[in-house]
Amino acid sequence: MNLEEKFQSKVDQEIKIEPKDWMPDAYRKTLIRQISQHAHSEIVGMLPEGNWITRAPSLRRKVGLIAKVQDEAGHGLYLYAAAETLGVERNTLFEQLHDGSAKYSSIFNYPTLSWADIGSIGWLVDGAAIMNQVPLCRCSFGPYARAMVRVCKEESFHQRQGFEILLALSKGTEAQKAMLQESVNRWWWPSMMMFGPSDADSPHTARSMKWKIKRFTNDELRQKFVDVCYEQAKVLNVTLPDPDIKWNEERGHFDYGEINWDEFWDVVKGNGPCNKQRIATRVKAHEEGAWVREAAMAYAEKQEQRKNKVA
Ligand code: 3HC
Repeated sequence: MNLEEKFQSKVDQEIKIEPKDWMPDAYRKTLIRQISQHAHSEIVGMLPEGNWITRAPSLRRKVGLIAKVQDEAGHGLYLYAAAETLGVERNTLFEQLHDGSAKYSSIFNYPTLSWADIGSIGWLVDGAAIMNQVPLCRCSFGPYARAMVRVCKEESFHQRQGFEILLALSKGTEAQKAMLQESVNRWWWPSMMMFGPSDADSPHTARSMKWKIKRFTNDELRQKFVDVCYEQAKVLNVTLPDPDIKWNEERGHFDYGEINWDEFWDVVKGNGPCNKQRIATRVKAHEEGAWVREAAMAYAEKQEQRKNKVA
């Protein structure tokens, strides 16, 4: 067997690929692409949520939201660290995010216009993230799979926290019920887009499935998401904004309407409601944080000198 065949046989036998193992360049490249964009999504994802920390309706809601936003930062750090094991510099990844050459999940380019949006993000966005991230706990690349275990535990808290916010609104005043429905109307379709293009239009899925980076295709995970959300929406007494959703006995799943792929690609290409604002905020935070990085480097150097002096 040649190196490529040996590699594929390890993947087929469910043997984890570790950073020091031989791997095809294309495997390394697609992992750096996916893991870094996943990390970018976590970090940029803090922005729409953070927008409501100072306006949360109670101390309890504020504490839950702060904890969630902090978790996202931690997810980003795990994932940047996992990407670095593949030989890429973290600064390079930041440059790619800031100059627009790297993607992050399109969902975070939509604005959070009401408190109900924080519930919809938890229920739908984190719900979609869990659907997609639980299988990643079994990804063939060791560091990514291990990072996902902790991430998924925290994501399930995020999803429950969001659902509970919406459940409270669903039992509230007519105005709160209207706010809930208006929010779900805005977040449902962009959440459906989180799973990526349809399998027929996905350039990466076939190879990612062969390499067991992906365990399910984009459409398979999207279908699971619809099937779960339909039942949960009934508990919230909210209507999903898709008149074509209906149970298909033959398929054993819900059929659903056509996704607006023009909107998806338009947002991915940078023309969403908040793309420019999100990147500008990230660049500003990175520039204003330069002193922290310099201080940490200076401190580490001093520690190193002290250690060498003693040795
Ligand atoms: N937003 C932006 N770009 C997207 C996208 C989305 N929702 N879905 C797909 N794309 C991009 C892909 O990155 C790829 O572009 P590239 O070649 O320049 O990277 C192109 O569209 C084709 O898509 P594919 O489906 O062929 O690409 P993948 O095989 O990489 O599948 C994915 C896309 C399903 C998002 C996959 O990358 C993945 O599972 N990533 C890990 C999970 C992740 O990143 N989730 C994002 C949300 S994180 C989150 O929600 C955090 C939570 O705490 C809030």
